[in-house]
This record gives sequence, structure tokens and C-alpha cells, in this order.
Amino acid sequence: MPKVIIDCDPGIDDVLALLLAAASPELEIVGITTVSGNVPADMGAGNARKALAQAGRLDIPVYIGEMVPLKGKYVDAMDTHGSDGLGESFLPEIPGVFPEKSAVDFLEEELEKEEISIIALGPLTNLARLFLKRPELVDRVSRLVSMGGNFKSHGNCSPVAEYNYWCDPKAARICYQMFADAGKKIEMAGLDVTRKIVLTPNLLSYMERLDPKTGAFVRKVTGFYMDFHWEYEGIIGCVINDPLAVAYFLDPSLCSGIERYVEVETEGICRGQTVVDSMNFWKKEPNSLVLTETDAGRFMRFFLTRILRKEDGTRWAKEELSCLEQL
Ligand code: BDR
Ligand code: CA
Repeated sequence: MPKVIIDCDPGIDDVLALLLAAASPELEIVGITTVSGNVPADMGAGNARKALAQAGRLDIPVYIGEMVPLKGKYVDAMDTHGSDGLGESFLPEIPGVFPEKSAVDFLEEELEKEEISIIALGPLTNLARLFLKRPELVDRVSRLVSMGGNFKSHGNCSPVAEYNYWCDPKAARICYQMFADAGKKIEMAGLDVTRKIVLTPNLLSYMERLDPKTGAFVRKVTGFYMDFHWEYEGIIGCVINDPLAVAYFLDPSLCSGIERYVEVETEGICRGQTVVDSMNFWKKEPNSLVLTETDAGRFMRFFLTRILRKEDGTRWAKEELSCLEQL
């Protein structure tokens, strides 16, 4: 069973990703760490616990991480995710206290013990802090799947930048450079693939029919996000980036890509842009597997089957299966 730490900034799509991870029996989630991104890291930790409560997995510990980026002013994404980070659903806080240990200390201690994979769904601040402090621990990361960046796709918070890397470009730059130094590759699940993953009102209705409890939760947290997508992108539905990173971690055949050298710009109008050396101008060893293609229908079947807990043992009704066939 692969051991994994999920570093995230919940965030509506982060919470959907946590539901998917929590419902995946082949994953051993050692812990969840939060970072300031969509919302401040402490608010994100509360939201992570709301997702875990929904999934019946409050046994998984949540560690609060870095409150500000490595450099510059922190800019949240509450315009996209709501003032509570969960689409202004204002779900009640889950009682309990957070461990004293910081996210960075937790990551350090766990990686010291053994090799672990990391799925990063927010800015890379925690990871950059860890690797700056303990560069040798890069080698202990079995796989790093990072939702962030973009290659041919346009940005989602500037013409050229994706939010997670734009929020803390220095952290992203450091992680890619340190993976290059260690001869390792970050698996970059950027907007080229995640943009294809749209949760539509129809799918939401299927979810409510198939599993009213999960469907109601997803409706509560995604309404605000859907309004945002209509207003700014003219999309009926919402792009759910983060669950694809988890699904791809579990089943790499869901995406394919190219191995290339990637550098992250930190300043000016290109702040946060992932510069992918697709034509090998720099003659550098690839430090990334840049995901460029995905099968959105297959992802959606995988995602729904898991979070609606229709896995083995439960016989799907004919009508339920035919809903998924349409994807
Ligand atoms: C990423 O930024 C956040 O808004 C989402 O949670 C996702 O991780 C997409 O750019
Ligand atoms: Ca996120």
C-alpha cells in the first residue's frame, strides 16, 4: 500500500480530492498537511477535517503548515472558493485540536523514517521550506505529484500562470530546481489536463440520485464555484483540478505526458509561469513529467465510483451504470 502525505489548501476542489483519497483503499494516508493558498493554512486545516468527517476518516491527522509564501505578500483565492474556502457553505467546524507539530516538521519526521509519496494540491511552500532545510530528503520522496503549472494551456490567474505556482513562485521554482539537482522528476498535473475535468450540474444530479448524502455535500460546496466559473469563464459547471492529481497518482494510465526540464518564473508579468523546455534548448535532464493528456470520461467514472462508494461488493443498478456509460 503506497504511503502518502497530501499537502493541500482546502479549497473546494481540494476537499473533493480528499474525499477521493479517503475512499481509496490502496492508499495509506499518513497525514494531511495544509498550506496557505486558496485560504490561510489554519482555515484550510479546518476544511480538511470537514472533508475527513464527511468521508468517515477523522483518524487521519491534519497538520497546519506555512501561513505565508517564501517571498512577497500572500494572496488568497477566496474570490473563487468563498470566504470560508468551501463555497460559503459555512459547514460547522469539526471539534478537536490540531497537533502542535508544524506541517514542515511532520513532513521532515516522516521522510526521515521512510520513503513516502507526496500529492501536493496547493502552493509548494511547505515542501520548499522542508527541502531548503533538509535537501537530502528530496531523495526520500518516492513520487511527487503536484497540481500546478501549465504548458500549452493559458493560466487561470494571469495570462500565463496557474494559481498554486503563482501564489508562491519561489517555492515552486526551488522544488523544481531541487528535483533537478537530485535527478528526480516532479509529476506536474497542470491546467493542460485538469482544465478538462468539469463537474457539470448533470453529474451533480446523478451524484445526488446515486448517493444522496455525498451528493448533498458536493452540491453545498460547489454552488459558489459554479457561479464563479459561469461569471469568469462562461462554463456551466466547475473545473475540479485537484481530484485528477489524486486519481492520476492511483492510476497513472489516466494521464500521459512528456518528460522535460521545467523552470518557474518568479517575477514580473510572467510570475508563476512554468517554462517547459519542450524543444530541449537547454540540454538539461528532465526534472518533470509534464502531463499533457487525460481521459476525462474515464477519470469521472473512477472519481464517482470511488466517492459514491460503489466499489466492489455493491452491485450497481442498471440505471446507475448507464449514467456512467454516458460519460
Ligand atoms: C489550483 O488552485 C486552486 O484554486 C485549486 O484548489 C487548485 O489546486 C488550480 O489552479
Ligand atoms: Ca488546491
